[in-house]
Amino acid sequence: MTARIPLPVHRPRRLRTTRGMRALVRESRVHPRQLVLPLFVKEGLIGSQPIASLPGVDQLPLDGVADAVREAAAAGIGGVMLFAIPATRDPLGTAACAADGILNLAIAEAAAAAGDDLVVMADLCLDEFTSHGHCGVLGPDGRVDNDATLLVYAQMALSQARAGAHVLGLSGMMDGQTAAIRAALDDDGLTEVAILAYSAKYASAFYGPFRDAVESNLDGDRKTYQMDPANGREGLREAALDEAEGADIVMVKPALPYLDVLAEVAAASSVPVAAYHVSGEYAQIEAASELGWLDRRAAHMEVAQSIVRAGADLILTYAALDLARWIGEDA
Ligand code: PBG
Repeated sequence: MTARIPLPVHRPRRLRTTRGMRALVRESRVHPRQLVLPLFVKEGLIGSQPIASLPGVDQLPLDGVADAVREAAAAGIGGVMLFAIPATRDPLGTAACAADGILNLAIAEAAAAAGDDLVVMADLCLDEFTSHGHCGVLGPDGRVDNDATLLVYAQMALSQARAGAHVLGLSGMMDGQTAAIRAALDDDGLTEVAILAYSAKYASAFYGPFRDAVESNLDGDRKTYQMDPANGREGLREAALDEAEGADIVMVKPALPYLDVLAEVAAASSVPVAAYHVSGEYAQIEAASELGWLDRRAAHMEVAQSIVRAGADLILTYAALDLARWIGEDA
């Protein structure tokens, strides 16, 4: 006797039959307006300089910032995040706070070019400016001094806000940085400048190419301030603390290895949630595509889709311009 195989009653494949059907029932979408493109500006550079470990991304000279911002606006993306490489570094990261420091000059250029169309964000952290490469100032014992760093961050925030930044990206992982910076801004009447807190920022191996891009001097690691990759609950705690301290947007970083944290933060947060698809995540796709092992476009689109599906409202990604174009072509 042969067993009768029952015909399926439930057929999820019905909704996958055509391109139109799949598009109709799609649960989440990536829109160019959600994308933020990181830009690297190097003091004293003449012309742009490719970054070997970040194919397609260049260090820009100060006079290239306006064009890069106009290109981003024309592509329809939501914002840019500025990082800078100063000509000189010192233990206190002095150039970070100087009104004529390279990052603050770049912010002014970007803000003038962006107008109201595009959101100009600036990285608020000392690692690009310190000779030792740490995200804060060091105490006598050689360790990063949390509270002394907050005082410098507050000054840096004022410089960035006065230069015209719309959003400050707090990436240093010092305790209390959101509250300290919010208070400094508000005391100075800069109440409309928003804070994007890199809340759950993990001590990750995937920042490697970024450290090439900013010519990092770091010797050692950031494990005493960035989070342990093993900890999910702590990511929720960090995001909740930043929200309570006044963050306007919270972030999880990197993105793909921490999609679980992203999903939980997105479920718990009452403010928008960002995710950073970081340099090493980007570089993996670029390198494999270069070897013919991955379809670059399909891989980048799937990644962006996954990050939005997990709950991100915005994505920082080096692929922002290509993604915007592909999304337009697929629509
Ligand atoms: C610190 C900062 C880093 C990144 C963004 N902000 C580097 C670090 O923490 O070592 C990494 C981003 C990336 O890898 O794309 N200012």
